[in-house]
Amino acid sequence: MSIGSHDITDVIKARLKDFKAELVTSEVGRIITVGDGIAQVYGLQGAMAGELLEFPGDVYGMALNLEEDQVRAVIMGPYEHLLEGDQVKTTGRIVQVPVGPELLGRVVSPLGEPLDGKGPINSKKMAAVEKVAPGVITRQRVDTPVQTGIKAIDAMIPIGRGQRELIIGDRQTGKTAILLDTIINQKGKDLFCVYVAIGQNAASIARVAATLEQYGALEYTVIVAATASEPATLNYIAPYAGCAIGEYFMDQGQEALVCYDDLTKHAWAYREMSLNLRRPPGREAYPGDVFYLHSRLLERAAKMNKANGGGSLTALPVIETQANDVSAYIPTNVISITDGQIYLQSDLFNAGVRPAMSVGISVSRVGGDAQTKAMRQVAGRMKLELAQYRELAAFSQFASDLDKATRDQLERGSRLTELLKQPQYGPVPLGIQVGVIWAGTNGYLDKVPVARVKEWEEGFSRYLRADAKTLVSEVEKKKALDDDLTKQLERAAKAFNRQFGVEGAGAAEAEPEAEEAKGEPKAEAGKAEAGKAEPEARPAKAESAEPDEERRSSKDRREAERRAEKAAVEKDRREKERRAAARRAGDQKGAKSAKPAEPERRTTARRADGAERRQAERPDAKERRGPERRTKGTK
Ligand SMILES: Nc1ncnc2c1ncn2[C@@H]1O[C@H](COP(=O)(O)OP(=O)(O)O)[C@@H](O)[C@H]1O
Ligand SMILES: [Mg+2]
Repeated sequence: MSIGSHDITDVIKARLKDFKAELVTSEVGRIITVGDGIAQVYGLQGAMAGELLEFPGDVYGMALNLEEDQVRAVIMGPYEHLLEGDQVKTTGRIVQVPVGPELLGRVVSPLGEPLDGKGPINSKKMAAVEKVAPGVITRQRVDTPVQTGIKAIDAMIPIGRGQRELIIGDRQTGKTAILLDTIINQKGKDLFCVYVAIGQNAASIARVAATLEQYGALEYTVIVAATASEPATLNYIAPYAGCAIGEYFMDQGQEALVCYDDLTKHAWAYREMSLNLRRPPGREAYPGDVFYLHSRLLERAAKMNKANGGGSLTALPVIETQANDVSAYIPTNVISITDGQIYLQSDLFNAGVRPAMSVGISVSRVGGDAQTKAMRQVAGRMKLELAQYRELAAFSQFASDLDKATRDQLERGSRLTELLKQPQYGPVPLGIQVGVIWAGTNGYLDKVPVARVKEWEEGFSRYLRADAKTLVSEVEKKKALDDDLTKQLERAAKAFNRQFGVEGAGAAEAEPEAEEAKGEPKAEAGKAEAGKAEPEARPAKAESAEPDEERRSSKDRREAERRAEKAAVEKDRREKERRAAARRAGDQKGAKSAKPAEPERRTTARRADGAERRQAERPDAKERRGPERRTKGTK
C-alpha cells in the first residue's frame, strides 16, 4: 500500500485544525534548602496556599508557608534526589484526588494512586482534597440511621447519617473492630464506605483489606492508606483525600460513610510537619491550628437537604488515648468537635465485655432522632438501666447486704450486659436486634442463668430467623412495634423459652434469706426485713407462679458458697486467736512474736461489735478489714 503525499497533508491539516495554542504560565523558583521532606524555595511569589508544586523527577509538593521572599513546601514522595538550585514550578492547582465509583473496591494512596496491584484507576473526575464544608442552608437534620449491626451501639448510641461520632479508647480496645463491623453490615444496603488508615503499619492495612474482601464488603468500600513509614505529608493529606472521595457520593445524592483510623496519628503527622516548617509549637508542641485541622475535616460530614441532592456523609473518627486519658489535648479537641462519642475501655474489654463500650459516658447527641422507632421502643430505658447497673455493681462489691430492688437491678443488668456482648464480624440485622432486646428488657431473660444468656441469645436469634421470619421482616418493614407485633414477639419469646427450658417472664426472687441471719445478726436483720417487705412493695413481675428450678438452684449454690466461705473465715480467725493466746501465755521468747498478733486481735474485736457493717459501706473498707476478711467483700 502506498501513501500519497496528499494523505499526509490531510492528516496534518486535520491535526492543525484542532490545534489551539494555550498560554501556560507557571512561575519558576529555585530550591534553597531541602531536608526532612521540606523544601525552601526562593521565588514563586504568586504561589497559592496549598498549591501543588512540581519538583524535578515527577515529584510534587504542596506550598504551605508563604513568606515574603520564599515559600516552604512539603514534598509528597521521595526527595533524596533534589538538590539546591533545582527548579520548582507552580501548577495552578490545589492538591487533588481522583474520585468516583471506579475507586470502589480499591486500595489507594492519599494521592489516589493504586496500591493494590489491580491496575490503573480510570476515574473520570478529580476533586480537591481541601474543600469548604457545606453551609447551614444546604443541610438538613439527621433522620436516617446508620445501622452498625452492633447491638450495643444501635440500641443505645444510635448513629445518624450525616453525623460525626467519635470512637475513642486505648489501643487494643476494639476501635477498628467497630469500624469494620459497621462497614461489613452495609452489605446490600445503600451506604458507600471509605476507610482511611493513617499512620498504621502496612500489615494491619492489608489485614483490613483482606477482612473486608472476605466478607464481601470491599466492593462498596474504598481504602485510603497512608502507612507509618510514609512521609508525614501523606499522612496529613489522607483523611482529607478520604473525605473528598466520600463527598463525591454525597454530591451525587448518595449516602457515604468515612472512617478515619485514627486522628491521633493524623495530629502527630501534622505536628511533625509543622515543626519542620518552623511553625511555632504550642501546647504539647502541636501548632496553634491543630483544632482547625480536625474541625475543618469533620465539618465536611453532612446531611444535605432535598434541594441539594439529599446525600449524606457520615464520619466515624477514631482517637487513641493513653491510659484512658480523655482529657489530653487532641482527645478533648475531637470530643468537642464531634456529635457524640463511643468510649471503649480496656478494663471492660479485658473483663470480656466486647464491644467494650462504657455505657455511662458514651453518647450520641443527634442520632436519637435518627433511631428506628422500633429500636427506640424496646431500648429506651436500657441505657439508663445499664449505666446504673455499672455503678451499682462497683458499689455492691463492698456492700455485704443488698435490698431486693438493688439485687433485681444487678440481676437484670448483668443479663443485659451479657446480652449485648457480640463477637466480631457478626453484625445483627435490625429485626433480630429488636426481638432480642425486647425480650431482654421485658423480663424474658430474667430466669435464664447469667452464664447461659449468650447461649440463649444465639438460640433466640436463630429461632427468630428460622421460625419467626415474617415477624422479623415485618419489624424491619414497619420499623415500629404495634400491638400486633408485640403480641407476636411475646408468643415467640414464650415459645422459645419453653424450648430453652425456662418458663414465663419476670424475676422470681422473693424468698427472704433468713438462714443467714444467724451469722451476722445486725447485717442480716436488715436483709431479712428487706426481703420480707419486698413482695408487697414490688409486686413480682412473674406471670407464672411456679418457682424456677434453675434460678433457685444457682441461688442455693451461691448461698452454700457464701456459708462455706464464712465458716472458713471463722475457723481461720479462731485458729489465729488460739495461736496468739498460746504465744501470750508462753514464755518470754514468745513476747516478741506476740506483737504482730496485736492488730489481728483488734480487728476481731471491732468486728465483734458490729463496726464492720459500717466499714463495709466505705469504699476503703477492703484495706481496713483484716486480710483474713478480704474474700468476703467480693461475694
Ligand atoms: N467484639 C469483639 N469480640 C472479640 N474480639 C474482639 C472484639 N472486638 C475486637 N476484638 C479483638 O480485639 C483486638 C483489638 O481490636 P482492634 O479493633 O484492633 O483494637 P484497636 O483498633 O482499638 O487497637 C483484635 O484482636 C480484635 O480481633
Ligand atoms: Mg485499630
